[in-house]
Amino acid sequence: MRIAECGLRSGEKEAKEGMERIKNYIDGRWVDSRSGETFRSINPANIDDVVGVVSRSGREDVDQAVRAAQRAYEEWRLTPAPHRGEILFRAAEILLRNKESLGKLETREMGKILSEGLGDVQEAIDMGYYMAGEGRRLSGETVPSELPNKDMKSVRVPVGVFGLITPWNFPIAIPGWKVFPALICGNTVVFKPSSDTTVCAAKFVEALAEAGLPKGVLNLIHGPGGEVGEYLVSHPGVDAVSFTGSFDTGKRLEGICGAIHRMIVTEMGGKNAIIVMDDADLDLAVDGAVWGAFGTTGQRCTAASRIVVHRKVYRKFAEKFKPAASRLKLGDGLQKETDVGPVINESQFNKILRYIEIGKNEGAKLILGGKACRKGNCSKGYFIEPTLFIDVAPEMRIAQEEIFGPVVSVIKAEDLEDAVQIVNRTPYGLSSSIYTQNVNTSAIAERDLETGIVYINASTIGAEIQLPFGGIKHSGYGRKEAGGRGGALDTYSRWKVIYRDFSGRLQRAQIDK
Ligand code: UN1
Repeated sequence: MRIAECGLRSGEKEAKEGMERIKNYIDGRWVDSRSGETFRSINPANIDDVVGVVSRSGREDVDQAVRAAQRAYEEWRLTPAPHRGEILFRAAEILLRNKESLGKLETREMGKILSEGLGDVQEAIDMGYYMAGEGRRLSGETVPSELPNKDMKSVRVPVGVFGLITPWNFPIAIPGWKVFPALICGNTVVFKPSSDTTVCAAKFVEALAEAGLPKGVLNLIHGPGGEVGEYLVSHPGVDAVSFTGSFDTGKRLEGICGAIHRMIVTEMGGKNAIIVMDDADLDLAVDGAVWGAFGTTGQRCTAASRIVVHRKVYRKFAEKFKPAASRLKLGDGLQKETDVGPVINESQFNKILRYIEIGKNEGAKLILGGKACRKGNCSKGYFIEPTLFIDVAPEMRIAQEEIFGPVVSVIKAEDLEDAVQIVNRTPYGLSSSIYTQNVNTSAIAERDLETGIVYINASTIGAEIQLPFGGIKHSGYGRKEAGGRGGALDTYSRWKVIYRDFSGRLQRAQIDK
């Protein structure tokens, strides 16, 4: 038997060094798509480097995957949750064992620098352990009845088959956010990752297969969102959907699901901001701004794309921010000295450069970067210099629309109230932060900032998985990812309420005493 057929490995290594042949994973088997068509996954730091040749799924493959998930559901939902948790725990252990190679793969396939690739894998490991433990909790409530000889409780039950669609910017962490809680709650899954990071997705699924997940519980398909993704979301055999990606796509999927009465959770964009008050530790605020704006090449939905600075420290902040940002080294994320990697693909590359032109035309002052880098280390990939605009007006497009690249706008504010209003006046509401030494100022900001996540004296990025993650307005719809009760467990399960009357007679609630 070839390795590819034994149910653990996603594909064979091609003859060419390091190129993987990535298949679908349906009903416990790695299989080519029906059409036999493929597409390529490319290293954004070196477009000559093909990371994977990937099976392009069509509707028939989606049908098969959904049928497999439906079949597997009947047994999986009845598997005791602690046993489901043991499988998840083993999967987390496998991810931990493979952390180094998975981190490197992330850097190669997605472009983020190696330390961040390793962090991304760690986030999935954290979620695996967390949800494994939930297998022994998944607690509901028991409360007293108002009537004698009657008891009542709420229990979590699975939803059914989940369609999961994940983005390329956290190619292992976000699958972990969705798959682990979906599975611990007893759902089965059809998973479609972004076409830019299919190899990472396949390695994540391999870990679960190796951990002993029964066939059909987790199925993987690949292909363009507009075709395969939308077909999956609207498939009659799917019970609920979770999507992370752009606002435009998420909104379209919300519309599809709304029309067919299907539960959907969307995590979408952000136009996140850091407020720097006049009493802030400016060096700390600069560190936070550099990390938030240029970490992951600005390609986090939580990235700090606006820095709103109190007028009293505005010049001083800009004078410190520019040299700090200019020290960042652009290049291949596998090289130790690199701070900022490439952007993901050609269309994002072009979009970001277009936004830089828009910013210049709007009259914002460009003081750093502003162009593609094609020299030396950067000659073969999608590299854009860390870009800094100052004197940006809050209503400019570069301060309102999500760019998703290494571009940051510095905006002047009169006072706290003005700063909070500037932060709130965008269509998005995911993450925000304030740098201040004053506890009262931080309390007002915490109360008034209209975002799902608020940081005090820290940047806008770096949420941990123990608490719910998500935003308001154009940043998200429905329940939240991550966290336990009030977060992921509520997203991936339903409440069922049981009343048991053991009095042996008719008892009428609210009427009989
Ligand atoms: C995302 O960009 O979609 O809070 C997720 C953070 C990371 C997750 C980002 N833990 O920045």
